Amino acid sequence: MNDKPEKFIDENGLRLDGRQIDEIRPMTIKIGVLSRADGSCYLEWGNNKILAAVYGPRELHPRRLQKADSALIRYRYNMAAFSVEDRARPGPSRRSIEISKVSREAFEPVVMTHLYPSAVIDVFAEVLQADAGTRTAAINAASIALADAGIPMKGLVAACAVGKVDGKLVLDLNKPEDNYGEADLPIAITQDGEITLLQMDGDLTQEEFKEAIKLCKEGCYQILEMQKEALKTKFSDDADIDIPDD
Ligand code: CDP
Repeated sequence: MNDKPEKFIDENGLRLDGRQIDEIRPMTIKIGVLSRADGSCYLEWGNNKILAAVYGPRELHPRRLQKADSALIRYRYNMAAFSVEDRARPGPSRRSIEISKVSREAFEPVVMTHLYPSAVIDVFAEVLQADAGTRTAAINAASIALADAGIPMKGLVAACAVGKVDGKLVLDLNKPEDNYGEADLPIAITQDGEITLLQMDGDLTQEEFKEAIKLCKEGCYQILEMQKEALKTKFSDDADIDIPDD
């Protein structure tokens, strides 16, 4: 069934879900939701619902996989069978293996793995409900779960996608924009603005590409602020102290 909307942006410049073209979907963050994990985060972003759990650093078994000078990061992105309209087939797929790989690489530049030789840091990102942008939502949740686990990092990582509909760049694609848009470009950045993940589907001109990265970074910076705020609240509540702003 083709349910492609006739127009994605109305005469007032608003998208199908009422957002401005440079507006991200509402995000809520809960930290420390799993008692057995070393760090965890439940994140909702629009209709996406993600649970991230971090275990470690812990000794890596089998030992032959250990790295003598650093910890290994393992990242598993998984869609629950009930997370999508058609049941998602349980177990790894080409898509989930690819997303797990690029997401792990998004964290490798910031996690201070050299502090934990022979260890492993396991990151699990479970998509409970999917509605476009799950890889970026999962990275945002995983970043917080890593911080919650006390893993030393040079900074947080935030991710967002930008795309193109009706010939215009739009930030943080919703489902129809993702399904029927002209381009989809997810990125992840560090706090310093270094890009650690960049993927792209569709077509953009060089000018549009540059503009898209700029727009997407703006989205990521907003997310970084929300991540920091959530962590500050969690840890000041836990310690019952006031943490001053930057
Ligand atoms: O989720 P993300 O945008 O990172 O990845 P995608 O491969 O572009 O998928 C876009 C959306 O399609 C997902 O967020 C899901 O809502 C949906 N999807 C699905 O319904 N069934 C799948 N097996 C994979 C994706």
